[in-house]
Amino acid sequence: MNKSNISDRFLFGDGESRLLGVIGDPIAHSLSPKIHNLSLAHLELNYRYMPFHVRPDDLKTALKGFAALGGVGFNATVPHKIPLLPLMDNLDPAAMKIGAVNTVAIGSDGLFTGYNTDAYGFITALHEKYNHNLSPKNILVLGAGGACRAVLLALLDAGAEQITLANRTIKRSQELAADFTGFYPKAKITTIPLEFSNLPLAQTDILVNTTSLGLHGEDNFPLAIEQLPTQALVYDIVYSATEETPLQKLATNQGLTFIDGLGMLIHQAARAFQIWTGRDMPVELVKKQIFAK
Ligand code: ATR
Repeated sequence: MNKSNISDRFLFGDGESRLLGVIGDPIAHSLSPKIHNLSLAHLELNYRYMPFHVRPDDLKTALKGFAALGGVGFNATVPHKIPLLPLMDNLDPAAMKIGAVNTVAIGSDGLFTGYNTDAYGFITALHEKYNHNLSPKNILVLGAGGACRAVLLALLDAGAEQITLANRTIKRSQELAADFTGFYPKAKITTIPLEFSNLPLAQTDILVNTTSLGLHGEDNFPLAIEQLPTQALVYDIVYSATEETPLQKLATNQGLTFIDGLGMLIHQAARAFQIWTGRDMPVELVKKQIFAK
């Protein structure tokens, strides 16, 4: 088939076009359709990736409907990541440990396999900028929500052994620490309250923010950034297309190495793309065409 026919096929679809998508409530903000459709078109793969607004009460029906339409797989975002877990026929170890599913693959037998590619996204983006052995590093993680579980798994799988979790609600971080110490008995996971005036910054090699602070336009991130060592890495898993996050401003003004959530966003998508299509996402193209500021 010549190239123009393949392009027509991509544009209009045909009997062999396969369905991919993302479900969420809300969904309009999702960048996933852009990331995946650009990659599919670039590689001339005959799939379409659609955003679907699925309300919580409709989750089960949506799954059935998606499979009935011959869908190959989909991503899930808020609020479906945790409710999907018991609806899966199989779970990959990351989804099981994180307790949430962000990628579903539907087999030719109609069975659903749940994956979580957020930890892969987090660590791949980390390694793009920071290639040190994590085991001797003191890592301070702010937060204890859903996103934090993926970060914790990624760090522990990559060999981290000394992690301090600081969260406003200490009970949540204690539960998280207990869960993950069960999976990784060698790791030392300490929990402390998130009091910005009282964080062990001077002993921190890597600081990761997984809280939603800075997501809602607050311009103040009350961290005493000057207390971090000059070689420290700051990683904010939040990604803002329009402006720097408050933590990013602090870290870059201080001359510290900084990673934002863009790499995590793209690499979690790349892993899902690989699961569904067996192909590597053209990550550099995605960065250039969709995210160049
Ligand atoms: P996500 O799935 O994105 O991690 P989440 O589960 O709602 O979302 O978790 C949000 C995280 O941000 C939590 O760690 C939350 O702290 P609590 O567990 O105490 O709620 C943290 N967070 C949100 N707003 C915060 C604030 N104003 N100050 C400090 N931490 C905050």
